[in-house]
Amino acid sequence: MSDKPEKFIDENGLRLDGRRVDEIRPMKMEIGVLSRADGSCYLEWGKNKVLAAVYGPRELHPRRLQKADSALIRYRYNMAAFSVEDRIRPGPSRRSIEISKVSREAFEPVVLTHLYPGAVIDVFAEVLQADAGTRTAAINAASMALADAGIPMKGLVSACAAGKVDGQMILDLDKAEDNFGDADIPMAITSEGEITLLQMDGDITQEEFKKAIEMCKEGCRQILELQKETLKNKFAKLDEVEIPDEEEDVSALVESTLEPSEEEEESDIPKIEDAEEDIIDDDEIDDKSEDEESDYEDVEIVEGESSFEDVDEAESPEDEEEETA
Ligand code: CDP
Repeated sequence: MSDKPEKFIDENGLRLDGRRVDEIRPMKMEIGVLSRADGSCYLEWGKNKVLAAVYGPRELHPRRLQKADSALIRYRYNMAAFSVEDRIRPGPSRRSIEISKVSREAFEPVVLTHLYPGAVIDVFAEVLQADAGTRTAAINAASMALADAGIPMKGLVSACAAGKVDGQMILDLDKAEDNFGDADIPMAITSEGEITLLQMDGDITQEEFKKAIEMCKEGCRQILELQKETLKNKFAKLDEVEIPDEEEDVSALVESTLEPSEEEEESDIPKIEDAEEDIIDDDEIDDKSEDEESDYEDVEIVEGESSFEDVDEAESPEDEEEETA
């Protein structure tokens, strides 16, 4: 790993890569990149490269995991072994389990899961190249993949992180700023301005925390513009597709999406439950990946006041299992 830079921000207020303190890294995205997924997105953000794939809604097996009144969202964040300087040990780690959990929760308030009782919506986020901010990059890509799959949502979710270096708040940390900086605060925000993910690693004051929220809101607004533009460009080409306006027709569409096709039943597409079976043994995870434990704390959001001091312990994977059981 490279050494800590002497200064992160120069006398002109510019960062090591030439960005202003409130500037996000260049981002580009493309949807519909995987033909076997129902929805997909490839996203580049600075040096981050992320691929998201969505499968579903489809009937959930085993049936005991089904929810009677809504669809289950499963989210798997994974870093490719070759995505970082030191090879990542394949398989789930504490860090990837935690990121998967908080990312799933970032989408639960926006996806209209009640339309698909008994179904599952699988979201896979694969980090191909990492340079800090991968959980937020993955959420941006997953949001687009869900939209590309035609999953009904209240709106898109956009995500970015704020942080602190040289005593100043900055937006969208790169790897050096993340590794050697004083704080890292990733957030996901819906198009209606609701914060659905908020974590914090580091020490900051209440004022700095407010500034971080402000900066992330502006960063997410810019990302949302790009997300909407990308969707418009794709769906503008689909003018000739007939959209049913009768309620009955829509429910027929919903039902038909839940019928597993023969192809799907025999599909060898990896399923998240397969991965989850591998992660039940907590001791094993300890052995495998102590060095991958996350520094983040899941911050409880309290309406009207800054709540970064009220930090909840992140739920354990066992809790999550109980939830889905
Ligand atoms: O990527 P994100 O900022 O969401 O998560 P992080 O845990 O704060 O990791 C920051 C960065 O550290 C990642 O994006 C990777 O570039 C790097 N990293 C690594 O090199 N090896 C790991 N096992 C985990 C993270």
